[in-house]
Amino acid sequence: MRGWLYDRLVAGMTTDWYREVLVRLPDGARLLDVGIGTGAALARCADVVRAKRLDVVGLDIDADYLERCRTEMANADLTAQVVPVLSSVYDHEGGPYDAAYFSASLMLLPDPVAAIAHVAAQLTPEGRVFATQTFHHRRSALLERAKPLVRHFTTIEFGRVTYEDDFRRAFADAGVELMELTTMSGTRRSSYRLAVARVGDHGDGRGCSAA
Ligand SMILES: C[S@@+](CC[C@H](N)C(=O)[O-])C[C@H]1O[C@@H](n2cnc3c(N)ncnc32)[C@H](O)[C@@H]1O
Repeated sequence: MRGWLYDRLVAGMTTDWYREVLVRLPDGARLLDVGIGTGAALARCADVVRAKRLDVVGLDIDADYLERCRTEMANADLTAQVVPVLSSVYDHEGGPYDAAYFSASLMLLPDPVAAIAHVAAQLTPEGRVFATQTFHHRRSALLERAKPLVRHFTTIEFGRVTYEDDFRRAFADAGVELMELTTMSGTRRSSYRLAVARVGDHGDGRGCSAA
């Protein structure tokens, strides 16, 4: 039931986000999907995953979602390409990855800065960090209080209300350069955006600090 509700409320929206990111990846890319959830959004993009021969590790801390994710991957014939892993992003050690992707998952984490830095350290020098999520344009104390409460009605964690300056600061504090913040769609009050960031390299293993 939780997984069913999740697919109705989340994957309907995030499938287009996944597609936007997946089509940007190079053929044969190794992708770390942070917070893969039930995998429904990824499974709906199976055509791209197959065409690009992507190799995906999908992390999540929710065992129920991951069980559903394994079924989704089997139904989409993606078991050879997508490996769901029960792990928090902070504990995961793997890679090197060509990309890490946070779809509606970055700003619900307790420490987004640490999460960005942790995955960035597992990327190739040319690797990219992608994030897609909702941004709110005007600060609203009411919305900031209300959004976390949605979890009590839906069982789904939607995280905190995110504003552009907070989001940019998270990447800057992680020492990862935010190269692009594109609006995919939006209204006067909010927008769905795609962020692309790079780690860079100084030739001594250190990432470059954000501009
Ligand atoms: C709103 S859902 C997004 C799911 C999927 N990425 C999508 O866009 O359809 C956020 C997911 O992040 C997962 N999550 C939360 N904390 C996490 C952590 N520390 N490590 C990995 N995943 C986490 C949640 O369990 C949930 O499945």
